Amino acid sequence: MKFIVLTLFPQMIEAFISSSIIGRAIKDKKIDVELHNLRDWATDRHKTVDDTPYGGGAGMVLRVDIIDRALYDLKTNNPKSEVILLTPQGKTLGQQLVEELVDSSRTLILVAGHYEGFDERVRLLVDREVSIGNYVLTGGELPAAVIIDAVSRLVAGVLGDKISAQDDSFSLKDDQGRRLLEYPQYTRPVKFKSQSKPELEELAVPEILQAGDHGRIQSWRLEQAKLRTHQRLTND
Ligand code: 6GU
Repeated sequence: MKFIVLTLFPQMIEAFISSSIIGRAIKDKKIDVELHNLRDWATDRHKTVDDTPYGGGAGMVLRVDIIDRALYDLKTNNPKSEVILLTPQGKTLGQQLVEELVDSSRTLILVAGHYEGFDERVRLLVDREVSIGNYVLTGGELPAAVIIDAVSRLVAGVLGDKISAQDDSFSLKDDQGRRLLEYPQYTRPVKFKSQSKPELEELAVPEILQAGDHGRIQSWRLEQAKLRTHQRLTND
């Protein structure tokens, strides 16, 4: 699986992709990430990528012709690619969309703006528009990193055998195939009294987990996951 990010601030994404699990996955050639500076496609001597909006108004607008030239080159070099525009107006990213985006044989071209808006015609150049949630960020760089992370961890071999993508939050499903949050997990100590929050009573690991009946533990976990999903997704 290959990711290409088109951005004015490649260094924002560089720090993220060189660390931890994603850094390891790139070294192991499970995924590939290319960062490209949109400024490389500017043609004037000032390397201009934006201009003032027609009709007036505050701020600058990223030019469609420059993004188009960049996408022409990137698509020519990556024939099996899909172009995603990162914008708060896009479809909100969820685990279902993440699963749609995983395809080891394909390249995702992620187009990130910064501060400014895109010329409306840019939307016609892309295959889809994605947002990472209902809030506004200063640019598409963090959303690009979020998509690379969420999609990469579903690529075979990216997570070690000690961590499984199967059991995580939003991957566990009930009998009708609905996504559930993760069940509660515990490790030692079996009994614990908090110093930092002294009003808490002594907290023990549930008896059922200590007893070791795997059938009962499985059904307890499924029930807990359902309960948690219902509570967290209906209240708050
Ligand atoms: Cl993709 N871009 C920006 N600028 N803000 C966002 C976003 C994207 N998704 C949520 N907020």
